[in-house]
Formats: sequence, structure tokens, C-alpha cells
Amino acid sequence: MIRPLVIAVDGPAASGKGTIAAGLAQAYGLPQLDTGLLYRAVGVAVLAKGGQLADAAAASEIAKLLDLSSLNQPAHRTRAAGEAASQVAVHPAVRLALLEAQQAFARQPSGAVIDGRDIGTVIAPDAVAKLFVTASPEIRAQRRWKQLTGQGETVSLADVLEDIRIRDARDSGRDSAPLTRAEDAILLDTSRMTIEDAADAARRIVEAARIRSNG
Ligand code: DC
Repeated sequence: MIRPLVIAVDGPAASGKGTIAAGLAQAYGLPQLDTGLLYRAVGVAVLAKGGQLADAAAASEIAKLLDLSSLNQPAHRTRAAGEAASQVAVHPAVRLALLEAQQAFARQPSGAVIDGRDIGTVIAPDAVAKLFVTASPEIRAQRRWKQLTGQGETVSLADVLEDIRIRDARDSGRDSAPLTRAEDAILLDTSRMTIEDAADAARRIVEAARIRSNG
């Protein structure tokens, strides 16, 4: 039996994984879930209520009630939202509250493309194709700086690089579902690639995985 095409795309902040996941979703006609948005929405909601990002109970109550259809607002794409997301994402109770919705997305008979930090390891360990997308911190900082200033934020490149380093350390160092490459994930370093090259490379990885999984 042909398994539904589930593609897991993990990687650090601003690695290009979101763009790659969107390209794959379009190429294969699959629904896509950017799981970073879940954590961003929780972090933004905690701050909007005047709460503390370190308050696991408050953040997990918000996570349990999260409305997936309300994701992807401009407020979720800011520098502050990324930092807030990384801070609430360390709480096991928050991760647990968001687990079932992500796993249900991965179980769709249509297949799915899901990107985040723990997709190949926790959310969809049986995914047909797993990519671990990365790039050097300096390149990722440049990309993120372009995105943030392009949407009207005032921030220096040095500060964005510092954010990236802090976020890498927190996302990789936490106890609960840390950012890590699944053993069977294929590494895609996009440091020296154009968007088109990275998208092509990602498709080749998925094609190879598809052929392997269909025997
Ligand atoms: O991919 P992103 O930059 O939008 O993610 C924001 C933060 O959310 C990231 O720093 C850590 C957290 N996150 C996570 O812990 N697990 C995921 N699957 C996705 C994001």
C-alpha cells in the first residue's frame, strides 16, 4: 500500500525551512502546517494578556484553547513573537497541549507538509521524507533581518544575529523535544543556495524518499 506523503521539515530559525515547506506543499498539492506559528500564537497571546512567558500553566491554558484558524497574522511574524514563541516552547505542558492537533494534521489521508523543530522526531516520526534544513547563523541573520526590516521593524543586523544565537541555544538545549536532526533526516544546508536551488534540492530529496518508501 502506498503511504500518504508526509514530509517533515525541521531546522533552526530563518534556515529557509518555511519557504522550502511551502514550495513542497505547492509542488505536491499537500496541505502545509507551519508549527512555529502555533508557538508564536501562544507567546503573543500570553504577552497580550499581560502574562509571563515563564508561566507554564498560563501558557498551556492558552495553548489548549488555541484556534488553528486564527494563525498567521502579522503580529505572529514579528521579532518579539519569535522570541516569545521560543520561550513558551520550552514548557512541556505547552508542547503537550499542541501535540494532538499537530499529529492529527500529520495523519490526514491526503498527506501533509509540516515544518518546525520536532516534526521528524516527535510529531511525525514515520514521515515518508524528512529534511533538516540549516544555514550558517550569519546567513540566517541576514535573511531574518531582511524580512523584519521589510515588514517595517527597526532592528540592527547585529541584534538579529544575537537573537538567532540565543534562540538556537534555547531551542536546541531544552529538555522537551529539542531541535535536533532525526537520524533519518537528510541535511540540506542552504547557506550558499538561492531559493530556487534549495527548492530543487528539497524536491530531489523527497523524490528519493518517495521511491524508497514505495519499495
Ligand atoms: O519556526 P519559527 O521561528 O516560527 O519558530 C518559533 C519558535 O517556536 C522557535 O524558536 C521554537 C518554537 N518551535 C518549537 O519549539 N517547535 C516547533 N515544532 C516549532 C517551533
